[in-house]
Amino acid sequence: MSTRIDRTVDVRRLTAPRDDEEFRRRAHDAIPGGAHTYSRGDDQLPIDAPSCFTRGKGGRCWDLHGRDFVDWGMGINNVLIGHAEDEIDEAAIAAIRNGVAFSRPTPLEVEAAEKLLCLFPGMGMVKFGKNGSDANTAAIRLARAITGRDLIAYDASAPFLSIHDWFIGTTVVNAGVPDAISSLSVPFTFNDPASVEAAFARHPGRIAVVVLEVCRDRKPAAGFLETVRRLCDEHGTLLLFDEIITGFRYALHGAHSLFNVAPDLMSVGKAMANGYALTALLGRRDYMERGGLRHHEPRVFLLSTTNGPEQSALAAMIATVQFYCEHDVIGRLASTGQRLINGFASAARRHGVDRFVSADSEFGCRPAPVFRSPDGQPSMAWRTLFLQETLRRGVFLPWLCPCYRHDMADIDRTLDAIDAACAVYAKAMDAGSVERFLGGPPVKPVFRKWN
Ligand SMILES: Cc1ncc(COP(=O)(O)O)c(C=O)c1O
Repeated sequence: MSTRIDRTVDVRRLTAPRDDEEFRRRAHDAIPGGAHTYSRGDDQLPIDAPSCFTRGKGGRCWDLHGRDFVDWGMGINNVLIGHAEDEIDEAAIAAIRNGVAFSRPTPLEVEAAEKLLCLFPGMGMVKFGKNGSDANTAAIRLARAITGRDLIAYDASAPFLSIHDWFIGTTVVNAGVPDAISSLSVPFTFNDPASVEAAFARHPGRIAVVVLEVCRDRKPAAGFLETVRRLCDEHGTLLLFDEIITGFRYALHGAHSLFNVAPDLMSVGKAMANGYALTALLGRRDYMERGGLRHHEPRVFLLSTTNGPEQSALAAMIATVQFYCEHDVIGRLASTGQRLINGFASAARRHGVDRFVSADSEFGCRPAPVFRSPDGQPSMAWRTLFLQETLRRGVFLPWLCPCYRHDMADIDRTLDAIDAACAVYAKAMDAGSVERFLGGPPVKPVFRKWN
């Protein structure tokens, strides 16, 4: 019997797009928002940004027309060695050749778990997943099961913690999330111990877990993490450090190792497999065992996904950790980032816009660009101008994620582009308005109520 070909599939549509316009139309026809992550969408970049990237190598990406860009996006902060790093890819390919999915656990799965646990001595067990949102949400379920409580105290100044209802329900894009869910998330503010104390005082005996990133561009204030830890201990609450971004980038043993405060549970992800899809929830053994088969308490359905044990990503992770152990990746990220921070500062000073343009950060590995309007407020329109001018000079900086493979040529091109962008910025400042300088509409925040 011959296989019937479905004539409704128009094979002509499956060819490579001819130009940016066709790419954008097809992307938006097929995918809500035109991209599978909102932060990679068209509304996040100036109109003449490349519509897509077709390949990458090291610290560069190429667009449809073969133009190369120094890439400071590096995925979404998840490619910390460099694009298409041979050693990592070969490890993944070798695993692929032996099959990627099995219906019993594999030696690679156990080896990867053991490797990861070696890096985080306070953590006794680990479960792998495919995204950080799942890891954080699994941690919350575990904390609720262990404490018998329902509330989550979360850092309301965190840009992002999960795609799941407990976090999205707290943002302005909360359509589809019942109040009954969002009301279970109670806010506090990073580096404000009084706000954590107040959350505990408002909800005595009800907070199951406190969720926060250890640091972003600022260090935790002296005593802040210690206070959070103490309050959790006093109130019988679990502490979850979201190290999805910070793990591996700030320190191989997690950013929390820099500040000597240990969590009960932690999530890691972005940097651990050089862009291959892998995340993990780690935790103290006594807690994580509740997700296992060796106890008599009610079972916790902890983190159980079809693709969590995908062999290629696990092999990539083992190779990535090995690479971190053999090369000073973290030192390189910090020094590259510091060059950018300094470059921003000197170019902005040279052109007299240092009150408006900066990438200041207390951590070299995480420069934090800020673009302000003449009234001194962070501004999407002025951000658009800067991105437009740097893109025109072959530099893509939706944010600044240094990778190990960014070299002097990448940095030099970037510093030149920053200098030129500051010059245009200064002209627009003199004109008192950005409008005449923009080629299209300003970019928009991801978290907004309306399009
Ligand atoms: C700090 C932090 N936590 C959690 C997440 C969610 O991770 P994922 O996108 O893999 O679900 C992100 C994603 O950007 C993040 O930055």
